Amino acid sequence: MTIRLGDDAPDFTADTTQGPLSFHQWKGASWAVLFSHPKDFTPVCTTELGAVAALKPEFERRNVKVIGLSVDPVDSHRRWAGDIEDVTGQRLNFPLIGDEERTVSGLYGMIHPNANDTFTVRSVFVVSPDNKVKLTLTYPASTGRNFEELLRVIDSLQLTAQYSVATPADWKQGEDVIVAPAVSDDDARKKFPQGFVAKKPYLRVTPQPSR
Ligand code: BEZ
Repeated sequence: MTIRLGDDAPDFTADTTQGPLSFHQWKGASWAVLFSHPKDFTPVCTTELGAVAALKPEFERRNVKVIGLSVDPVDSHRRWAGDIEDVTGQRLNFPLIGDEERTVSGLYGMIHPNANDTFTVRSVFVVSPDNKVKLTLTYPASTGRNFEELLRVIDSLQLTAQYSVATPADWKQGEDVIVAPAVSDDDARKKFPQGFVAKKPYLRVTPQPSR
C-alpha cells in the first residue's frame, strides 16, 4: 500500500512496549510521528532510538506524540531498551510497536521488497490532529535519520497549518517566511500587518507570524 500526502493515516491496533493500543485513540487530537526501523539489536537503530528519546521534550512542546515500530516482538524491544540506555543514556520513553505479523508495516508500506523483503525500511509519517498524513520520509537501513530536521519540518507544518505561508529552503523557527502564492497582495497586506517584501511578484517574504 502506498500512503501519500493528504491521505487519511490508517488506524490500527498493535502491541507495544507500553501495552496494546489503538493508533487513532492513542494519538487523540495531537500530532504524531510514526517511524519504523529495520531490526532490534542493530547499531544505527540503537543510536536513532536514543536520539528520539532525548528529543521527546521537544516533540511534546510541539504537541507531537512519537511511536516507533519494528517487526521484532515487544519482548525483544524490552530487552533491547537496556542496550539503548547503556549506549545513549536514554530510557525508551515512547511506545515501540512489535509488528511480527507485519500488519502495520503492510498498512503503511514500510517494507520495500527490493531493498529488503523481511525488514522495514526507515519510514517516517507525520500525522496531523485530523489524522491526515502531512509528511513521509524513507531512508535506507544504512543511514540514520536526523531527528532535529524532523522537528524543523514539524515547525514548518504547524506554521503553515495556521497561517497562509510557506517556508523557504533551510528555514528555521523565527526566520522570515513566504507569503503563500494564492494570497493576493491586497489580502497579504491585511493578513500580515508587518508587511511584506516582494523579491519577485511571486516571492514575497514577511516576518514569521506570531513572534
Ligand atoms: C542498523 O540499525 O545498524 C542496521 C539495521 C539493519 C540493516 C543495517 C543496519
